Amino acid sequence: MFGFNEAIGEQVIINVASVPQRSPFRYPGGKTWLIPTVRRWLKQEVNSVGLLVEPFAGGGIVSLTAAFEKLADHVTMVELDHEISAVWEVILNGKNEWLAEKIFTYDLNYENVKAELENPHKELQDIAFCTILKNRIFHGGILAKGSGMIKNGENGKGIASRWYPKTLRDRIRAISYVKDSISFINGNAFDILEKSLDHQSAYFFIDPPYTIAGKRLYTHYDIDHQRLFEITAQLKGKFMLTYDDTPEIRKLADKYNLQYKTIPMKTTLHFEKNEIIISDNFSWWV
Ligand SMILES: C[S@@+](CC[C@H](N)C(=O)[O-])C[C@H]1O[C@@H](n2cnc3c(N)ncnc32)[C@H](O)[C@@H]1O
Repeated sequence: MFGFNEAIGEQVIINVASVPQRSPFRYPGGKTWLIPTVRRWLKQEVNSVGLLVEPFAGGGIVSLTAAFEKLADHVTMVELDHEISAVWEVILNGKNEWLAEKIFTYDLNYENVKAELENPHKELQDIAFCTILKNRIFHGGILAKGSGMIKNGENGKGIASRWYPKTLRDRIRAISYVKDSISFINGNAFDILEKSLDHQSAYFFIDPPYTIAGKRLYTHYDIDHQRLFEITAQLKGKFMLTYDDTPEIRKLADKYNLQYKTIPMKTTLHFEKNEIIISDNFSWWV
């Protein structure tokens, strides 16, 4: 079955019915298409996983799926970007109902959007709203500098073509039902991973900014990939590290003796893009 991957703006082959869209974000590089694989990975345990850590959370689809489907007792999400973090902080720790209603009742037009974007948002909740707004009206959901508003969009609907106020409100409200099982940290993935090296029973889903497309897609894209491999190789817990499939990444995996598999991500553009999945073991892979 074909599904539309909002994040990349393309059709991907995926059993969409099996992957509910739970995130309020349309996320560039989002991992919705990988969810069936992530489920298998998390089901290695007889019981549910005690702690799942998602150090590069972004749109958080893996964390949300694990929380909703009770695949983990507790989930810790980590994200460095302050705009994205504001959304998670407001939804998980603060005024989620305010945000849900603000989106639902917002009068979306160019004038209001301009005023919103130029407002020097002081409160966390305002930053959260503005982040959702930009994520929905900017090309490809890209928040990084240089991104701009959708011009024509679907059916010439312009900035409104991805603004689904009711859906967004419902998703934000739904997350509040599982919020007690999710902790959010606005911080650096490297710090959290370094602190968790000896956490044997934890699972780490690690989806860093890509080596190639990262710069265009994310404000925080410049990470030390070699260091990430070095730390990942030292984790005592279970991990899944995803990357774009490039010779440099394969080289790093080999250097740190890490096993990997490739997985195709099919698009309607008729090219097949591979991603690399690196894991401590592949007994769960079928
Ligand atoms: C590939 S995206 C994650 C996408 C996510 N898996 C999803 O499905 O929505 C990588 C994320 O890592 C964040 N990031 C970059 N450097 C970081 C760092 N040092 N610590 C924490 N997050 C970071 C970026 O802002 C971006 O949101």
